[in-house]
Amino acid sequence: MRQSYVAGNWKMHKTIAEAVSLANELAEGLKRSPNKLMVAPPFTALSAVGPAIAAGGILLGAQNMASELEGAHTGEISVRMLKDLGVRVAIIGHSERRHVYNESDELINQKVQLALTEGMEVILCVGETLDEREAGDVERVVGTQLRAGLSGVENVSLDQVTIAYEPVWAIGTGKTATPEDADAVHRYIRGWFAETYESDAAENIIVQYGGSVKPDNIAALMKMENIDGALVGGASLKAETFLPICRFND
Ligand code: PGA
Repeated sequence: MRQSYVAGNWKMHKTIAEAVSLANELAEGLKRSPNKLMVAPPFTALSAVGPAIAAGGILLGAQNMASELEGAHTGEISVRMLKDLGVRVAIIGHSERRHVYNESDELINQKVQLALTEGMEVILCVGETLDEREAGDVERVVGTQLRAGLSGVENVSLDQVTIAYEPVWAIGTGKTATPEDADAVHRYIRGWFAETYESDAAENIIVQYGGSVKPDNIAALMKMENIDGALVGGASLKAETFLPICRFND
């Protein structure tokens, strides 16, 4: 049985004081949750948010990490620096990193491999653009992102890996994929794991949906057979919207 996994990506929002205030509200509201939960504040708030969410059993996540361990990389943040702050999970290959900051599948794979080697969990994001969907290319695009992103990753490391399917056209737009459309891609992703890895991989891999997840659509999404959780952007910025998403199965 796969555990439900809800993660909040705060993107480039919140001062330290604002982040701690939200973290305290979440920790208080999620103490008895049966679900796996994570929040990824901006780097500047990681050290303050970590202790605040620990009481709620919420994992600390990073929105990105460097592809190298250390060295002359101005402005980058290493996986070891993140571990130092108590970060347990890194979001890698978010569509904003791919499309706005031109991260390639090769760079994303380097980050994934480094994170796994360093004992960090990973949420690897995949998803198609609107043009790709309209061209009927969803499976080819998602398949390529999985193959490239997980290149060199062995079966034994898969318990550190979560996949987030985030159609680019649904992120921050208010347009959600229908639960059926999302489930079809999730099923394809699970099938890809069945073909690529040992037999239990497809059954065990957690696949989150992301893209305009809100309190009023989470239940319908989570009812689908292959949707195991959510990666939430905008609605994770307020306790009043993130708490009901995290507690969809209360
Ligand atoms: P959204 O963002 O929930 O605001 O659409 C999702 C994401 O970018 O992970």
